[in-house]
Amino acid sequence: MMVTLGELFERLWERYVAITPQAERIHSLLRGRGERFQNDHVALRTFEGELGMDCLAAPFVEHGYVCTGGYRFDGKRLRARSYSHPSGRWPRVFISELVTAAFNDVVPDAVAHCVQQARGKHPLDMLLGEPPWAPVPYPVYQRVLAESEYAAWTMAFGICANHFTVHFNDLRTFADLADLNAFLIGEGFELNGEGDFIQGSPEDGLEQSSTRADTISWTFSGDEVHPIRSCYYEFAKRHTDSFGQLFDGFVTNSANRIFESTNIHAASPTSRNP
Ligand code: NI
Repeated sequence: MMVTLGELFERLWERYVAITPQAERIHSLLRGRGERFQNDHVALRTFEGELGMDCLAAPFVEHGYVCTGGYRFDGKRLRARSYSHPSGRWPRVFISELVTAAFNDVVPDAVAHCVQQARGKHPLDMLLGEPPWAPVPYPVYQRVLAESEYAAWTMAFGICANHFTVHFNDLRTFADLADLNAFLIGEGFELNGEGDFIQGSPEDGLEQSSTRADTISWTFSGDEVHPIRSCYYEFAKRHTDSFGQLFDGFVTNSANRIFESTNIHAASPTSRNP
């Protein structure tokens, strides 16, 4: 299948906003202020093994992306890699994978059942299309959720963008990230974390904030519909180092906290799945 990077990111965005209504609303609010901006990065979640980071990275690497870093989140049993396109014209891609072997039988068994159904499918088809496995039974989702929010999210939604990220440096009408955060709170959005909601610092090269994930009604096997957490929107401000180079990587501690944006919190369903 021949797909341009433009088409790939467009389709990932369509699938993302279909389950993340707040992202489209924030996007329009910013456009309404006259802002024009690119995405800093798109984050993908998957499981180690045949559907792991190498598998999902392949379509991007074919288009010239190169790996810019590897990361470990031992507390969350995750590994991740970041990829950038040398042209600088396309978003970075941040791919994480769950170390399923580190869990008891519930998670590895449920994940294996999903991954088996994806066998033989092209990674591009998984990124562009519907989940590569049949909807999971809700009781299985709940048992997995008790062990790993990450595993449950990926089983429910399949291989798709977990979040898009506004490149703050492109914005012209906000003094800093705190100013943007205050604007979002004023518009009724909930942000992840406490205090100034910012992870990282100029010294780290990267400051980030994120909304709390939407809750949507999602269809499980047997057409059972339940409210579950979907995705959040993220904002990243990059700083230059002492050599004047814009920081291109990610900060493990900040990303560790931002993974928690999809954790359980009080919220009500806002939309149905497409
Ligand atoms: Ni991110």
